[in-house]
Amino acid sequence: MSASRVIAIDGPSASGKGTLAKRLAAHFGLPHLDTGLLYRAVGWSAERARRPPAEIAAALQASDLDNPELRTDQAGQAGSKVAAIPEVRANLLNFQKKFASQASGAVLDGRDIGTVICPDAAIKLFVTASPEARAERRYRELRERGADTIKPRVLAEMAERDRRDSERAAAPSKAAPDAYLLDTSDMDADAAFAAALAFITRKGFRSSGP
Ligand code: CDP
Repeated sequence: MSASRVIAIDGPSASGKGTLAKRLAAHFGLPHLDTGLLYRAVGWSAERARRPPAEIAAALQASDLDNPELRTDQAGQAGSKVAAIPEVRANLLNFQKKFASQASGAVLDGRDIGTVICPDAAIKLFVTASPEARAERRYRELRERGADTIKPRVLAEMAERDRRDSERAAAPSKAAPDAYLLDTSDMDADAAFAAALAFITRKGFRSSGP
C-alpha cells in the first residue's frame, strides 16, 4: 500500500474536484480514478437490469466505466440513489482500494476518499463552492453537451443530490478532519490547480520517477 503516494479529493457535485483531479494526475504522472463513475455505472445498470444494485456493484468491471451515458445528470441521480445502499458501497470498496494501492500511487476523487477509501492518503483535499457557482458550472457543462435544461432545475436537482449525499447514514459526504479545504467559488480551473499545487508542495509531495 503506497498511501504516501495517494492524493484523495472529495467534494460535492460541480465543485471542480474532477477537473482538479485530472490535472493533478497529469502533473504528477499518476493514474486517476473518478469514483463517481462507479456509482453512476451501478445506478445506470440498476435502472435497466432486473438485478439488485449490490449484485451489479460486485460484478463491476473497469470497462463498464467507458459508457458515455454515465455523464448525464440522470446517471448522476441514479448513482446517488444506489450510493446510499451500504452493500453497494461495500461491494465497490475493493475496486477502489486496489486502484489506490498501485505502486505508482494514484489520484482518486469522490465523496468518501479521504474518510473511508484512503484514510491514510498523503494528501487530502476537500473541494467546495457555493451552490450558485456549482449550479452555474453544471448548467454550462450540460448545455455544452447539448442537454435541454434550465438553471433553476439544475440548482434544484443539485440541492436534492447534496441533501441525499450528506444526510445518508452510509459514508455521508463530508470533509476529513485533516483535509485541506479549497473553496473554488471565485476561482477558475487554473487558480484552483495553482492553490492545490501550492498546498501539495508545502506538504512535501513530489513527482515520482527520475
Ligand atoms: O460529478 P458529480 O460530482 O456530479 O457526481 P459524481 O462524483 O459522478 O457522483 C455521483 C454520485 O455518486 C454522487 O451523488 C454520490 O452520491 C455518489 N458517490 C459516492 O457516494 N461516493 C463516491 N466516492 C463518489 C460518488
